[in-house]
Amino acid sequence: MTIDRRDLLKVISSSAMAAAVGGVLPEEMLPQLTAVDQERQNAGLSGSLVQRAPERLLQSEPVVTLDAEGTATIAWETVIPAQGGTIYVGVPNDEIALDWPIYNAGQSVTEESARLKHEARVDLRGYASRSAPRMLLEGGTLAYRLELFDTRKSAAQFIDRHFSFQVENGKFRKTPAILEGPFLSQIQADSAIVWWVTDTPTKGEVRLSNGVNIPSESGPSEGGLASRHIVRLRDLSANTKYRYQAVSAASDGEIRSRSYTLRTSPQEPAFSFVFTCDGRTGGLGGGDMALEGINGISARALAIQMARHSPHLMIFTGDLINGYTTREDDFRAQLRSWKRIYGPLWHEVPVYTGMGNHESLLDIFPDGVQADKQAGQSAEAVFASEFVHPMNGPEPEHPGLPPYKGSVYSFDYTGCHFTQLNSDYWYSSRPQQRAGNPFGRLLPGQLEWLEKDLTAARSARARHIFVFVHEPAFPNGGHVQDALWGGGEAEGVKVRDRFWSIITQAGTSAVFCGHEHNYSRTLIDSKTPVHRDGTANAGFVKPVWQITQGAAGAPFYPRDSAVPWAKAVKKFVAHTWSYCLVQVRGPLVSLETYSYTGELLDQAELV
Ligand SMILES: [Fe+2]
Repeated sequence: MTIDRRDLLKVISSSAMAAAVGGVLPEEMLPQLTAVDQERQNAGLSGSLVQRAPERLLQSEPVVTLDAEGTATIAWETVIPAQGGTIYVGVPNDEIALDWPIYNAGQSVTEESARLKHEARVDLRGYASRSAPRMLLEGGTLAYRLELFDTRKSAAQFIDRHFSFQVENGKFRKTPAILEGPFLSQIQADSAIVWWVTDTPTKGEVRLSNGVNIPSESGPSEGGLASRHIVRLRDLSANTKYRYQAVSAASDGEIRSRSYTLRTSPQEPAFSFVFTCDGRTGGLGGGDMALEGINGISARALAIQMARHSPHLMIFTGDLINGYTTREDDFRAQLRSWKRIYGPLWHEVPVYTGMGNHESLLDIFPDGVQADKQAGQSAEAVFASEFVHPMNGPEPEHPGLPPYKGSVYSFDYTGCHFTQLNSDYWYSSRPQQRAGNPFGRLLPGQLEWLEKDLTAARSARARHIFVFVHEPAFPNGGHVQDALWGGGEAEGVKVRDRFWSIITQAGTSAVFCGHEHNYSRTLIDSKTPVHRDGTANAGFVKPVWQITQGAAGAPFYPRDSAVPWAKAVKKFVAHTWSYCLVQVRGPLVSLETYSYTGELLDQAELV
């Protein structure tokens, strides 16, 4: 079945929007978009775009220098004048699998007046003598936390970073550090990707415990050196555990990760995955609950609970970060904060992320309209570049619009099909004024791709199909006035119904979403009232579960029982951080939902 683009374009109220996604529209409409783009360009050039100060206090990344005697100088800039703080130091915990650093020393950063440029000194030799004598022999990695006071919020902000060094003949020297990773991605029965990022260009390779070393495929930039390393492991055996280590070297030294375990997929569908979303901070609680855009307390607790199940995959669909920033460096820093927090789990469990409305990287115009940056600078492009996801997504809705690839994608795992969508593509707060798309509106190109993707999966006899999308098709509390059904207005409902028809016709087992900061489990079928007037959609022939799991850390929303499908909601939990564990056993799919404390909140057989 093909999508009638004209039908869906009617759904999209903005003429500028329609012109942009059209391709089928009268030529005379296109100049409207051109004019809007021109205006945006002019606004950018003349500096009239509004810059929003980052929520983070950092203006720039801390820079570390280290002298031969072991004195590390850490320098940073703040976006507003700030005075003093505390620096804590420690080492990554190398005795347990989830290796977040533990700080065990600290000192004040004394400054006599508020300023933008700051500096702290750490006596590495002294610290190592007291707390980590091994470092004096061979060097290591020092983790540090800056605790700074943000007068804008009257709250402390924590900045967690680390650097690596060597000691030779009693002299200290900074060496390359692994900033991110190593992380696992795209694991199959016979292959896997290991990727990591170093703070300076290095040559990377993965060493397997069977003695095989595989070099990084990163481009031959910078004289064969690169900061981002992607290693594709091939010819692995199914359902097998391998010990692996990421190694990066340059003329100034070598850094080796700890040794971690990766597990190839089984050949029969007997596996589990964990799912959650909306782990962004609301800033409430401060400190670790507002860790550069992330709720670090809930994230760590959830990662610990998830790890206890030894899941084969972890999926996190949107609102990783607080986002809504105008600065690319701030957007990237928040995503890196997310990676830092989920990293210890990710060393051994492949993680797949999707975008939500908070993954917003914006231009703000003088009239207050906010819109996604263009194409290569867009939130979609930057998000894709911060992960290593499959690149089989759709083409942009129109040439020149943000890419889908790397944030919308699908993959097969052990005979099951997983599809990740983006419900918040190419955002504009006022599409009538500036080209873009409201939140929660799936556009025609993405829906066409979804239909083809799921049809192909069905033809290939996928045992189960799971679809992931940030915004729910059937909201139950917090976003009843919007989400994929557009709050129940005709155009939104039409797109939502088209989406759910594709889902049901493909025989999807469950749709996983978030956006609503709570947990709910809803079964939709052809008799469920799904419209404001209480009518059902006879096209929803196969009953399909919608699992809303937006309880990873953002402020909670209570239930709204006034929705037409209220009786189809089998479980609702409003007030605890939680995640889902999905276990596939051949034809059976079971769901368990746990709180961050490990309590079982819900249990169901999905298939
Ligand atoms: Fe959201």
